[in-house]
Amino acid sequence: MCGIFGCVLKEENAAPLIHSSLKRLEYRGYDSVGIATIADGKIYLKKDQGKIDDVHRALNLDDLPGNIGIGHTRWATHGAPLKVNAHPHSDCTGEIMVVHNGIIENFMELRSELQNLDHTFVSKTDTEVIPHLIEQTLKQNPQLSFVAAVQESLKRLEGSYALAAISTKEPDKIVCARNESPLVLGVNGSGVFCASDIPAFLPVTNKAVMINNGELVVLSPKGYEIRKIQDGSLVSREPETIEWTAEMAVKQGYPHFMIKEIHEQPETLRNTLRMQEHYLDLLTTFLDRASEVFLVACGTSYHACLAASYMFSKLAFLPTYPVYASEFIEQHGKSVNIDSTILAVSQSGETADTLAAVTCAQQRAATILGLTNVIGSTLTRISRVYIGTQAGPEIGVAATKTFTSQLSVLAQLALRLAKKRGKISQDEIDLLEQQLCQLPVTVDTIVRTQEEKVRQIAEKFKDREVFFFLGRGISTATAFEGRLKLMEIAYIPSIAFPAGESKHGPISLVKEGFPVVFACPRDDCHKTLIGNIMEMKARGAHVIAIIEEGDEDIKSLVDDYVEVPRGIASVLSPIPFVVPLQLLAYYTALGKGLDPDMPRNLAKSVTVK
Ligand code: F6R
Repeated sequence: MCGIFGCVLKEENAAPLIHSSLKRLEYRGYDSVGIATIADGKIYLKKDQGKIDDVHRALNLDDLPGNIGIGHTRWATHGAPLKVNAHPHSDCTGEIMVVHNGIIENFMELRSELQNLDHTFVSKTDTEVIPHLIEQTLKQNPQLSFVAAVQESLKRLEGSYALAAISTKEPDKIVCARNESPLVLGVNGSGVFCASDIPAFLPVTNKAVMINNGELVVLSPKGYEIRKIQDGSLVSREPETIEWTAEMAVKQGYPHFMIKEIHEQPETLRNTLRMQEHYLDLLTTFLDRASEVFLVACGTSYHACLAASYMFSKLAFLPTYPVYASEFIEQHGKSVNIDSTILAVSQSGETADTLAAVTCAQQRAATILGLTNVIGSTLTRISRVYIGTQAGPEIGVAATKTFTSQLSVLAQLALRLAKKRGKISQDEIDLLEQQLCQLPVTVDTIVRTQEEKVRQIAEKFKDREVFFFLGRGISTATAFEGRLKLMEIAYIPSIAFPAGESKHGPISLVKEGFPVVFACPRDDCHKTLIGNIMEMKARGAHVIAIIEEGDEDIKSLVDDYVEVPRGIASVLSPIPFVVPLQLLAYYTALGKGLDPDMPRNLAKSVTVK
């Protein structure tokens, strides 16, 4: 995530506006903050780790001189949340400053190329290659303007970015650019602004210009000029009027963070696919060597572990044991040992039960691997190797986008391990990799085409006293997650079982009209699952099925269905299939007049055992 902001003002000092605008972007990250301005041809910089208010109290961000500047609020992805990794980042001379949101995929190659050319790097970030690349471009082509040097440098970047750069070479300009990370301009009589998101400038203007992928913008006292990065051709685009209140704007027009985060999943899944190969390989090597692997987590993260146990087994033939972190010490505390590997999964990286399990295993010399959304969290500090899920801050209490990101990383790990172990054919691996890359589009289709249908189903069933969620194979994890979402935000007691288990007790609850939700990918379990659906129908259940588009066999049997695009491999199915269940929980809570972002008795991060 991360938030960037830049402004060229006609008269006033830029720093106070940058500071207050970053505050409105703090929902995008709050690991560190930094502002750089230009006055009298010189750069002024203040930055530090920590939240904006704390850094401002210590440094006074407002007293930087000059009416041009850029700022950043960080969500760490590459490099710990420390001052040294805080943006803006500079070139060797300190005359070029850059703020960036996104992930530069080829930063390792660029960094070593630039180091070989004597550039000195101080941070662990991917961003730092950008000012050095601009510096190098200028060194090699001194006739270029700063704007042209930025444009040339951008052509070398792979990955996603929304960035803003300033330089003493052209002290009256900000150059900003976009590829796959959001960037928007604001304009009013006192100046021009660039930001990650509209709320940043909404108190000063509601006139906005959306920037598209592959575009570069020059902000100056004359206004803004948009060009195509590839050929420099001019793009003409007029500002539009935004009809948002400041409160709506922080949620980008969504009424709740939960629904915003559900809708963000195509973007977060895309980011998760940009994982650094190096870390995936490292984790894969540890998993390959392990004689026993425990997948340890709580709540939604546990459901990701449950799904992962099917992925590792089916793709890499690696048996793994998903364990509730709160049970780990009792269950395995005495037997875990130097040959054990723990893969701990935690959105926050701070869940007390997960950390206790990890600490116990660590004391017994086990290898600790971490998967978390929060770089710099305790889990990242105590893991031998960790990997970030790149989903950006999740503010709604119910985990949504971080769950699908966890699943995507775990699937990538299982695939790598499969490759390393030669357990499945290259064709199968290629197909699964292709499908993984397709998932952002698949999830986007589900949200676009099925949301209204799910809302209607939720409306119909919102006053039920109990729900069943069933699935077979890996869809058991999907069913468990559907149940947890509905219970925690709509307060409807719900039951989830592997569908085959329902006959061994839970089915006695079923009577006329009883709502039973099935997750039904077209996988090896499909036929048997149809049998389970018929058992429920025979007892008068009202069956709601999440099916693949065109699954006529199930359509003809059930009362309501929601369709996801066809042709999704079983091991990846929890990612798309959980999306309608997230929406079901959200709209049920809404229908009951509840606040889905703040369910009673719950906290985002459970730091007590
Ligand atoms: C449910 C939810 C919780 C968390 C659980 C673990 O929507 O958010 O069940 O999944 O508290 O939290 P992390 O993943 O931060 O360890």
